[in-house]
Amino acid sequence: MEKQPKSFSFRIRIFGSSAPSGLEAMLGGIVHKKTGMKVSFDKPDVRIRVVVSGDLTVFGIVLCETERKSLFTRLPHERPFFHPGALVPTVARTLVNLAQAMPSHTFLDPFCGTGSILIEAVKVGARAVGGDADEQMVKGTLKNLQNIQDVQTSCADVIVLDATTLPIRDKKIHSIAFDPPYGRSAKLFGVKNMTELYKLSLEECERVIKGGRIVFAYALNLYEGKPPEELVEGVGLKVVELHTQRVHKSLVRRIVIAEKPD
Ligand SMILES: C[S@@+](CC[C@H](N)C(=O)[O-])C[C@H]1O[C@@H](n2cnc3c(N)ncnc32)[C@H](O)[C@@H]1O
Repeated sequence: MEKQPKSFSFRIRIFGSSAPSGLEAMLGGIVHKKTGMKVSFDKPDVRIRVVVSGDLTVFGIVLCETERKSLFTRLPHERPFFHPGALVPTVARTLVNLAQAMPSHTFLDPFCGTGSILIEAVKVGARAVGGDADEQMVKGTLKNLQNIQDVQTSCADVIVLDATTLPIRDKKIHSIAFDPPYGRSAKLFGVKNMTELYKLSLEECERVIKGGRIVFAYALNLYEGKPPEELVEGVGLKVVELHTQRVHKSLVRRIVIAEKPD
């Protein structure tokens, strides 16, 4: 912070129950006593947020805020091209954020489907490149990208491609996120099984990324093959985080965050 903050606002959010009365004032009082800052709701120098979930309490200072409402205007069934496998924008944006896509980045989704992830990458200001082995998906993604407002379509390049032999030169990409096919009914486009598809495409991601994050999501309960997180180390990448999300009773999603050092 450039200058010493003199005032603060304070808000607490408790998941699973409401805040016991007086807790906010009590914690705000502690902050005042420890820092000497005064409470200000109109123009605080710092905004403190506290999140309580089970045994975990996290304190933080608001550094920036995103505009979340527009995410809900990009729901899959409201886009010109729809397919049932499409990710909802909140999940697609999560993958893009976990990949640490930045405005100056070239971002890749080699399994783009209807384009959910590419749309969010373009929205954070990255130059998005991607594609799919299915031509109908590529055409659909282009339609969906053309439909997003306030974004130039020149920010995205989408082509028919095979994620296991990417038509991209070495080290040209800054960040990657995707959700590859999973489950028995998925079309495999020439590879012999899921393990091979994941291994070959991870090798290609490792080749084309300059250094940075490769994030992917798959259905843990439907996937048949060697756990993809175990393939990551074998292709020269490192697993930095693993997350498991229960989406509903028949879908448990796993998110793998891998990294290639610069
Ligand atoms: C789970 S879907 C992706 C959904 C997408 N994230 C969305 O929100 O619409 C997986 C996609 O991978 C594509 N695919 C399968 N094998 C491929 C390969 N070898 N190379 C590129 N794309 C492939 C499928 O055609 C399918 O569209």
